[in-house]
Amino acid sequence: MKLNLLALLPFAAAAAQVARAAATPIRRDDWPHGPFYTSGNQIKNANNESVIFVGTNWPGSGESMIPEGIEWRSIADIVSMMKYVGYNFVRHTYAIQMIDQIYENSGTDITVQSALLYALGEENGTKTMEMINKNNPQITNSTTRLEVLSMIAEEEAKQGILMHLDNHISRAIWCCSHDDGNAWFDDMDFNISNWHRGHRYMANWAKNHTNIVSMSLRNELRKSAVKQNLEYNWKTWWGNVSAAAENIHATNPDLLITISGLDYDIDLSALTTQANLLTAPYVNTDMDYPADASSLPEEYAKIEETSFGKAKKAVLEIHAYKQSTYYEDHLEDCDAIQAGLYRFGFNALGESARPEGCTNSTNFSDPYACPPAKLTLPTLLTEFGDAQDAGFANVTMQKCLRDFTTKNKIGWAHWSLAGSYRIRQGLMFNNDTWGLTTPTWDAFQSPETVDDYFRPWIRDMGTTNLEL
Ligand SMILES: *[C@@H]1O[C@H](CO)[C@@H](O)[C@H](O)[C@H]1NC(C)=O
Ligand SMILES: *[C@@H]1O[C@H](CO)[C@@H](O)[C@H](O)[C@H]1NC(C)=O
Ligand SMILES: *[C@@H]1O[C@H](CO)[C@@H](O)[C@H](O)[C@H]1NC(C)=O
Ligand SMILES: *[C@@H]1O[C@H](CO)[C@@H](O)[C@H](O)[C@H]1NC(C)=O
Ligand SMILES: *[C@@H]1O[C@H](CO)[C@@H](O)[C@H](O)[C@H]1NC(C)=O
Ligand SMILES: *[C@@H]1O[C@H](CO)[C@@H](O)[C@H](O)[C@H]1NC(C)=O
Ligand SMILES: *[C@@H]1O[C@H](CO)[C@@H](O)[C@H](O)[C@H]1NC(C)=O
Ligand SMILES: *[C@@H]1O[C@H](CO)[C@@H](O)[C@H](O)[C@H]1NC(C)=O
Ligand SMILES: *[C@@H]1O[C@H](CO)[C@@H](O)[C@H](O)[C@H]1NC(C)=O
Ligand SMILES: *[C@@H]1O[C@H](CO)[C@@H](O)[C@H](O)[C@H]1NC(C)=O
Repeated sequence: MKLNLLALLPFAAAAAQVARAAATPIRRDDWPHGPFYTSGNQIKNANNESVIFVGTNWPGSGESMIPEGIEWRSIADIVSMMKYVGYNFVRHTYAIQMIDQIYENSGTDITVQSALLYALGEENGTKTMEMINKNNPQITNSTTRLEVLSMIAEEEAKQGILMHLDNHISRAIWCCSHDDGNAWFDDMDFNISNWHRGHRYMANWAKNHTNIVSMSLRNELRKSAVKQNLEYNWKTWWGNVSAAAENIHATNPDLLITISGLDYDIDLSALTTQANLLTAPYVNTDMDYPADASSLPEEYAKIEETSFGKAKKAVLEIHAYKQSTYYEDHLEDCDAIQAGLYRFGFNALGESARPEGCTNSTNFSDPYACPPAKLTLPTLLTEFGDAQDAGFANVTMQKCLRDFTTKNKIGWAHWSLAGSYRIRQGLMFNNDTWGLTTPTWDAFQSPETVDDYFRPWIRDMGTTNLEL
């Protein structure tokens, strides 16, 4: 079954292309018609057409800082698998450490080979390099990490897929926890000026790839357990987030910039409701509210006054997992899940996205409260997921996310592509049941989930305006 599916892949893709060619004129010339911009709750291309992202995450911020899986399959085969699902968007995670090393190495990126030796040791590093070279002969001992990312960007462009650059972490390790030293600005490994430098480097690098139209600021901000004295709150969040977005925008004004929220990117409510940053409610209980907050002058996240906001480049992004704060208490209650999504940030899409199960409560702690936003912005669901097995389609939270994104044409990216990691949490060849692929990347881990869940979902999302 699995093998048959993949063997059929090129023919199915070719047939689909022919079918499309008959229906609509092919505008391959300037695909993807960038730069993109925002208009109300929509992302639009340069032809003023609304674009909808549907995709997955491709991890590349582990210890070796090389996208996972290329020791098992060719880049073209991996991208073809994603194309088969129907994805048009891939969120690529990278670590700031990669750029720090480039600066330490006088401006030159280090090779895949030395990155592997460093991360995996001599024996496994050499073995993995040989496997990469066998499956991807264009990657040799002298190829650098960013050259590999360029190869992937080019292959994705060839197959009609956008590359989104996601700064996942500073130090390259499995993400994310309160005690990993990468949780919050100024955390042990979260150097703010290196972070800005890394953003500038990647924003410049993106200029060479027309299928990169967007970039994130930081994955899953959260309170640090390592440095307890950092002020973890809405005020320092907005101060750091707005400065970083201005920095990227000044470097590459074409890019959309995705803004993530607090508590592992669950909550953006203080921004969307334009609440006083010193006193605004928050999904969890670990916020360091400023002392005497209610007696201080009010402060607001005035996104419409920023350069990137005025240029219509701001997009919001939110995550939702069964282990996330709030959702963990409402796993079987779709009304509460959708009300939470709305309350914590998707209200930026406007009243039209207000779930049916909402009450008129204005109490932020009420699971069914759906306070309205005071601004309108596109908002994406850039991480969600669960075990890739036959039960995926039956998980209430997954069904609920599918329903909400389909109804409101919300762009999404599933976590994740990787059925295994070359190293993760100290374990070599670390397999992930949540991955779309098998551990050896030769097939889908759950073909029924791909065929009976993801593909119909993507069809239901409607026209994405990203077809080649
Ligand atoms: C897109 O919209 C802008 C503003 O309304 C307009 O100036 C421009 O000509 C439009 N572009 C296309 C390709 O329709
Ligand atoms: C090499 O990887 C294997 C698993 O593939 C692991 O068992 C072994 O400990 C690793 N060797 C070293 C030296 O880390
Ligand atoms: C790549 O490096 C390894 C380890 O140093 C070496 O054994 C191998 O011959 C090199 N390959 C080429 C093509 O130079
Ligand atoms: C951040 O890193 C830079 C070097 O890039 C260093 O000069 C600076 O002191 C570091 N900042 C902190 C707070 O450690
Ligand atoms: C863009 O590509 C050109 C040609 O390959 C290369 O010389 C240049 O360094 C690249 N620019 C960036 C920012 O990577
Ligand atoms: C960034 O965050 C740190 C840690 O909370 C804080 O000290 C600093 O003031 C913030 N920067 C801005 C510009 O708000
Ligand atoms: C919520 O408010 C609207 C408008 O004020 C009203 O029509 C509706 O009946 C209220 N719903 C509930 C459940 O109270
Ligand atoms: C808000 O709702 C929570 C949870 O339902 C409740 O404990 C709290 O008392 C309510 N607050 C107000 C002001 O009604
Ligand atoms: C999923 O739910 C349907 C309908 O309740 C049921 O028929 C099916 O057996 C379930 N599948 C799995 C794998 O749990
Ligand atoms: C990962 O899966 C592969 C293939 O199924 C297996 O050979 C390997 O031992 C697994 N790795 C671990 C750490 O269990």
